[in-house]
Amino acid sequence: MVRAGVEAGYECAPNIALVKYWGVRDEALGLPFNGSLSVTLDRLRTRTWVRFDPALPSDQFVLNGAPQSGNPLRSVSEFLDNVRAIARVETPAFVRSENNFQTASGLASSASGFAALAGAASRAAGLELPPPALSRLARLGSGSACRSLFGGFVEWRAGTRADGRDCFARPLFPPSHWPSLVDLVAIIADAPTKPVRSAVAMQRTVVTSPEYARRLREVPRRIRAMKRAIAGRDAPTLFALTIAECDSFRLVCETTDPPLDYLVPASRAVLAEIRAVNADAGSAIAGYTHDAGAHVHVFTTRRHANAVRRRIRAVAGVEKVLALSPGSGGRPLGGRSR
Ligand code: DP6
Repeated sequence: MVRAGVEAGYECAPNIALVKYWGVRDEALGLPFNGSLSVTLDRLRTRTWVRFDPALPSDQFVLNGAPQSGNPLRSVSEFLDNVRAIARVETPAFVRSENNFQTASGLASSASGFAALAGAASRAAGLELPPPALSRLARLGSGSACRSLFGGFVEWRAGTRADGRDCFARPLFPPSHWPSLVDLVAIIADAPTKPVRSAVAMQRTVVTSPEYARRLREVPRRIRAMKRAIAGRDAPTLFALTIAECDSFRLVCETTDPPLDYLVPASRAVLAEIRAVNADAGSAIAGYTHDAGAHVHVFTTRRHANAVRRRIRAVAGVEKVLALSPGSGGRPLGGRSR
């Protein structure tokens, strides 16, 4: 039952995919063609509070203190419709959300955002959803959000059912499994904002990229190999696979018609620098990846972090380098009663 007037909060972190989700077999349900694998990050956080209130004329959404309208409000409202359908209510909601990092900066705010919204809205609606159901709910907002509910290393299995019941994320290993793993995020100065939502762009790839079918055949093997490398904390294998997967993702983007190019020259220079770092070391001591944005995530281990960071920092166009680690999953926050 909706707890009218009671505000419920939830906190989630962004995640970075080591194996990318790119392409759906069902657009309405957000069911992917392939499974994906991610690391949830520490330090970056979205906190969201939801209150269902029959006195409101319609849904309201305040992001980082600013009332939202247009697309951001519409996507929150459409997401809340899923929660209202499960809870069998029609009550409008007041949503406030805060990111401790720049929204829409290419740091996966939609993943942490919809994961936190799923947690907060379901609690405010009085629903006690078990983790798979919460993950399926978050998936309806943004595919990558279904992974952000869990900490550490997370796998999202594509599933085979048409209704998506077997399509949700689950934790593989907690953050404590590999605390010396570091994600150095090269923040690119003047990174352009995404021209089209990933959900739209990826379907262009499915329809037009001649490389997409091959990628789909490769991914299951890569996921199995990565899971083994993570289980054994085998850094060189994980980093080599991370680079191969990122290159495969970029290839299907570049061969999409019209092409999808998320990188700027500074991002490409970071990729080249990491290839040079590994060539100098004689083994993969670092692995790069990027999502549908210009910033580059470079995985390495504590032992090499300072040296790798210096090399990234020296690349022209890199504004700063964040050093992140595997972080914890979503958690409820205290709310306020009106
Ligand atoms: C490249 O599920 O985040 O980051 O909400 O439209 O941005 P939008 O889609 P989203 O797409 C993620 C695509 C990706 C790969 C990944 O995170 O697996």
